[in-house]
Amino acid sequence: MKRFKLIEFSQHKDEYGSLTPIEENKEVPFRIRRVYYIYDVDNGITRGYHSHKKLEQILICLSGEIEITLKSRDENNKILLDNPKVGLYIGPNLWREMKFIRNNSILLVLASELYDESDYIRNFDDYVIYKGDND
Ligand code: TYD
Repeated sequence: MKRFKLIEFSQHKDEYGSLTPIEENKEVPFRIRRVYYIYDVDNGITRGYHSHKKLEQILICLSGEIEITLKSRDENNKILLDNPKVGLYIGPNLWREMKFIRNNSILLVLASELYDESDYIRNFDDYVIYKGDND
């Protein structure tokens, strides 16, 4: 499994609008144990600033525009999410930052585990050391 990748979901579109279904172990390469969404974020605000030791996630921008930065000591990838048909898979051990570019942007997150604060690393230097020891 790649450490991150974009996944294009199907879209059922007709004159009444669009519908995109997502099922665990199909479009999403893990069992979905938690769903949350981030909203009411002023444009220009960046959140995240952490990595996860084990957690896998899919990020979907349901509305608006959100720039995701995925970085480690040696790489820095920026991915613009602005299409509810597209999900960004993020594997374990990758530092992420989410910049909300437009007002009323909504980020939906599908996660492979229940919430567990001990799975977070919230300091970039600690993350680089952890990643060096666990890659
Ligand atoms: P956090 O993960 O720090 O948000 P972000 O990385 O997007 O800035 O979470 C913000 C707060 O919400 C923090 O107090 C933990 C809490 N939280 C939960 O209680 N359950 C969850 O599933 C998540 C993701 C966060």
